[in-house]
Amino acid sequence: MCGIVGYIGNRSATPIVVKGLRSLEYRGYDSAGIACIDDGQAQLFKQSGRVDKLEASIDKSSLNAPLAIGHTRWATHGLPTTFNSHPHSNADRTVFVVHNGIIENYQDIKTKLQGEGYTFVSETDTEVIPHLIDYYLKSSKSFEEAFKKALRDLGGAYAIAAITTKEPGKMFAARLSSPLVIGVGKNEHLLASDPTALMEHTKKVIFLDDYDVAVITNKKVAVHNLKKGKIAERKAELLDYDNQEALLGDYPTFMLKEIFEAPATIRSATLGRTIASKNLVKLGGLESVTSQLEYIDRLVIVACGTSYYAGLVGEYLIEELAGIPVEVQLASEFKYRNEPFSRSTAILAISQSGETADTIAALKKVEDYGVLRLGVVNAVGSTISRITDAGVYCHAGPEQAVASTKAFIAQVTVLMQIALRLGDSGSKQYKAILKELDALPAKAQEVLDQAEEIKRIALKYKDYRDFLFIGRTYSYPAALEGALKLKEVSYIHAEGYASGEMKHGPLAMIDENFPTFAIATNSPILSKAYSNIQEIRARKGPVVAIATKGNKAIKKHADDVIYVPDSLEQTSLILSTMVTQLFAYYIAEAKGLNVDRPRNLAKSVTVE
Ligand code: AGP
Repeated sequence: MCGIVGYIGNRSATPIVVKGLRSLEYRGYDSAGIACIDDGQAQLFKQSGRVDKLEASIDKSSLNAPLAIGHTRWATHGLPTTFNSHPHSNADRTVFVVHNGIIENYQDIKTKLQGEGYTFVSETDTEVIPHLIDYYLKSSKSFEEAFKKALRDLGGAYAIAAITTKEPGKMFAARLSSPLVIGVGKNEHLLASDPTALMEHTKKVIFLDDYDVAVITNKKVAVHNLKKGKIAERKAELLDYDNQEALLGDYPTFMLKEIFEAPATIRSATLGRTIASKNLVKLGGLESVTSQLEYIDRLVIVACGTSYYAGLVGEYLIEELAGIPVEVQLASEFKYRNEPFSRSTAILAISQSGETADTIAALKKVEDYGVLRLGVVNAVGSTISRITDAGVYCHAGPEQAVASTKAFIAQVTVLMQIALRLGDSGSKQYKAILKELDALPAKAQEVLDQAEEIKRIALKYKDYRDFLFIGRTYSYPAALEGALKLKEVSYIHAEGYASGEMKHGPLAMIDENFPTFAIATNSPILSKAYSNIQEIRARKGPVVAIATKGNKAIKKHADDVIYVPDSLEQTSLILSTMVTQLFAYYIAEAKGLNVDRPRNLAKSVTVE
């Protein structure tokens, strides 16, 4: 899940590429590098660690170069060291390559090239690419020809940018599974793993498809599709987001900013879609498949991480409100399962980035099954939004922190509307939820107004090494998500469990050193939640509880209580999740950790 940026034009390429890499650092921050070419002369700068370190190492003499490619790395093959960082080059440093993805057959290619006398300086899979191009240059009339020959040998996933001193007026790019987008400017073109790095320069973009190879000059973009073996027309699209959204503003971190965007996130996820006064839910993105939606008798939701937990909420909602049986499957497992699929089964992929390789692979698995493929996606124009038949955008705006927060809130809000859309608009619940969706942004703000109190309680628990999160029905996925957030940003061991499962094993772990976060907001089975909390108290386990405002009884069950405004059982989990997001945030902040760039993680996981 690395980040790639490229620039060709009349401006100084290096600062543009470095700034782009900084905005893509959430894709990986193990090392960074840049290669630039000026007047046929190449310069290469690489550093292990963050982009700042790279920027400090760049020689001012490179600032005239009008052509450059850069990379920020999330290590898959080889340690996060300088010599494993990209760009990689051929021996005489005339070819430079940056790559996002995994070359699955790199060992075979390496052995073949070593047989041809090539020597390798890194442990990466990527280094085979510049040597392979070098190898084919000997039998090709142009770099483009050699590049295509090399691509045909590569197995796995790749987004590649390449430049060469032999043709300094061109930038070369190719994509298979990993995302790559071209930014169209005046006498200049940019290249990036996602539009975030382009926004400052242009909103006019060309998304490359699988097997696309692009030859880019400052004036022209020519795309050829290797699989179809012919020129490919790729239309430029205008992206409608404002780059202010992607800026930190007055917040210390993106994670806190994105948690505090919850009220606006709920509003934009329902804007123009729910009209409570008319008892109406209108999802434009599903209109093209209205007839197919009528025939769905089974829904399989596929996703990863936080999106998977949003899917679990979707399961409860769609089964309860639309009576359609739902299964939620981890996309990484779904791909390798052999299960029957009838034509009346639909598949729903949930993804913030829209680029998660496991989720894309799950969709590709059923490509020829003739089943309806739907998407709930946040990133506009992303792969999943383009390969699904229809879907609903989350409209949460760019999410920059690696730990997903506002996207989860938006995903659950969208799944609620999909459940209503598929359900019976005459039901009491339909009306109640529709009405509550209007009230939720204000209730979310009430939770944010308690941030200092949540911080006070979080600091009491920051030194524990283990944590359990429990909940029942709709609060169960919230417990799983709460545990994931704490794990991701504070590195504390945390597990989410259905409260009723405790006595079937996890209770053995409980003692005075193992606190539990119990989500116990009002529901028809609140008394059951109390008994589960009592089981923990009986083992001296400390308990922090989330409860509905006005619930005094909870105080005798828990050491600390965080109250959220009264809401429906189906919607309370949104408020509870905001509390667990803040709880995790304040613990990580108190531990002095980089909450936006947690170790070993990356924002969008573009390799299997
Ligand atoms: C969540 O905080 C993590 N960043 C991760 O689990 C994420 O949810 C998962 O990788 C799925 O990403 P997606 O929603 O972009 O597909």
